[in-house]
Amino acid sequence: MQKLRALDRALAPWRARRDTVALVPTMGALHAGHLALVRLAKRRADRVVVSIFINPTQFAPTEDLSTYPRRLSEDVAQLAAVNADLVWAPSVQIMYPNGFATHVVPEGPAAVGLEDAFRPHFFAGVATVVAKLLIQCRPDFAIFGEKDYQQLKMITQLARDLDLRTRIVGAPTVRERDGLALSSRNFYLSPHQRAVAPVLHRVLADCAKKIAAGLPLESILEQGRAMIAKAGFALDYLEARDAETLAPVSSGKKTPLRLLVAARIGRTRLIDNVAV
Ligand code: PAJ
Repeated sequence: MQKLRALDRALAPWRARRDTVALVPTMGALHAGHLALVRLAKRRADRVVVSIFINPTQFAPTEDLSTYPRRLSEDVAQLAAVNADLVWAPSVQIMYPNGFATHVVPEGPAAVGLEDAFRPHFFAGVATVVAKLLIQCRPDFAIFGEKDYQQLKMITQLARDLDLRTRIVGAPTVRERDGLALSSRNFYLSPHQRAVAPVLHRVLADCAKKIAAGLPLESILEQGRAMIAKAGFALDYLEARDAETLAPVSSGKKTPLRLLVAARIGRTRLIDNVAV
């Protein structure tokens, strides 16, 4: 489904029957993490819409928009297998017609010096496209992964601030057996990089355990940063933050906390996070 009018026509009979609708926004190249969101959506709502749109405005000119994996027909087949009711795959022209001039610029959890410090375009691009998707589909629920924790917090705030009558639901991160969080960007990893990549989750889990045991926060994080660098990553950040606001914290005693990491290996940038 690619046209707004067709989307409206598909949604109308569901609304007439008062079926509840959940939306799962994605950029495609679907993996088991995305499919887990769809399964959660199926449990929450009568109907599930999955959007597939590689949103150009959330990529900086130096980032991987042109090489981002595109596999619409495989994605549609996978979505049929988990009984998604509708795939909404608009074109760039539908989402951003000529003359498009309005952007949503989020603050609060989107301006705390994590992803926003390294990808300054990112959250305005995500906020704008997610606001449009929520307005287009008017779902009762929208499901987002904790894998992108700052994004989840930003969107929760956005839906509240803009009165978007959609309940934002977070879903746990799906991981490989060795702990690596599933990500479309894992496709880029060489065999050596893939072997090294689980270090990120191992360090997060180790730091979380030590913080929970009451050891001093900053020295734990310093050790974690050193381990990540030693494994061959260029670290963007490893931080402990207030789990709700994402504000910096000075001690591990104020719970709940969230540990968040972003690091580059070769040309691939990976992010992950865990609860403390
Ligand atoms: P994308 O990276 O395709 O992710 C779509 C959704 O899947 C997001 O909510 C993300 O957090 C979730 N997800 C990704 N990997 C996951 C994993 N391993 N376990 C659980 N959930 C996972 O995030 C985006 O797209 C875009 O920014 C989008 C919100 C669609 C706006 O363009």
